[in-house]
Amino acid sequence: MAILVTGGAGYIGSHTVVELLAAGYEVVIADNFYNSSPKVLDRLKTITGVDVPFVECDVCDKDQVENLFSAHPEIDAVIHFAAYKAVGESVEKPLDYYENNIGGAMTILQAMKRHGVKNFVFSSSATVYGDPETVPCTEDSPANGATNPYGWTKVMQEQILRDLCVSDKKMNVAILRYFNPIGAHPSGLIGEDPNGIPNNLLPYIAQAAIGKYPAVRVFGTDYPTPDGTGVRDYIHVVDLAKGHVAAVKKLFTKCGLVTYNLGTGNGYSVLQVIKAYEKAIGRELEKNYLPRRAGDIAENYADPRKAREELGWTAQYTIDDMCAHSWNWQSNNPNGYKE
Ligand code: WQD
Repeated sequence: MAILVTGGAGYIGSHTVVELLAAGYEVVIADNFYNSSPKVLDRLKTITGVDVPFVECDVCDKDQVENLFSAHPEIDAVIHFAAYKAVGESVEKPLDYYENNIGGAMTILQAMKRHGVKNFVFSSSATVYGDPETVPCTEDSPANGATNPYGWTKVMQEQILRDLCVSDKKMNVAILRYFNPIGAHPSGLIGEDPNGIPNNLLPYIAQAAIGKYPAVRVFGTDYPTPDGTGVRDYIHVVDLAKGHVAAVKKLFTKCGLVTYNLGTGNGYSVLQVIKAYEKAIGRELEKNYLPRRAGDIAENYADPRKAREELGWTAQYTIDDMCAHSWNWQSNNPNGYKE
């Protein structure tokens, strides 16, 4: 019995591998290092003491995926992380996003069907809630509101999985809607290493703190929120990873299709996050107050009760932990995995 983790060298994937091993699962990693580094595999070995079986594989390549499943008949569940994830890039290259994200999932699901693998965890996103009419979002909030092609690939894949589960009553699928994952493993050995200028708030703050940028950017100060800046539900990547372990356990109870928000239930504004980061680094950061970023919403945070009640999972780390661990990773690895 083993869990295949596609994108297992990536940011969320690598943290999930650590928690799966800690929970006693056998793991196989598949990754093509499109947005990750082979160094992650060494770091995983240092953290866990385990030499995790690894297959270099493009999830869109049918032959490679078939070979992967044939070589590892012990696989009986898949956590599918491997996908493109940059919102702005998805607007520039919609066909690439639909082809890679939906095509990759189809290739994996078809191989699972051929090999009789019935358990699947899908990386979805709070982006499926679009600009929610009310917060917090529950799993029953309308989830067809994507505002960019990246988000639509998540909405569409969720629908494909619901259709699949109608057709095959033996399939067990956990759709996990992530809020805003940040932070890093407390060891400082693995963390987020974006290519180019970071789009997301935390990696940008981290790189400003290390001196790569003169100031942090605050996109919008006139939102209808307490301090005028955008509010999100930031969740420690290790808590998120543990949510996947809980979801895998749920699949093995033969639950059919289930959908969970993975968030803390707490909203923090951009300025509150910057303040927490300043606390972690022990000094103030320069701020550059800019207009709103196109496509951004004012506020989004999770109602995480369903995951607590049905998975027995709740996020444990605070915003201060998230910032401290992010800084531990960034200051120990100023260039990420690219030394
Ligand atoms: C958070 C807040 C910004 C950068 C996106 C995707 C979502 C998911 C996670 C996953 C907002 C503000 C940001 C900066 C800032 N994708 N901000 N200065 O937009 O909530 O979610 O990432 O793979 O699908 O949409 O996250 O971190 O970009 O922004 O002020 O330099 O920080 O305006 O209010 P977002 P984010």
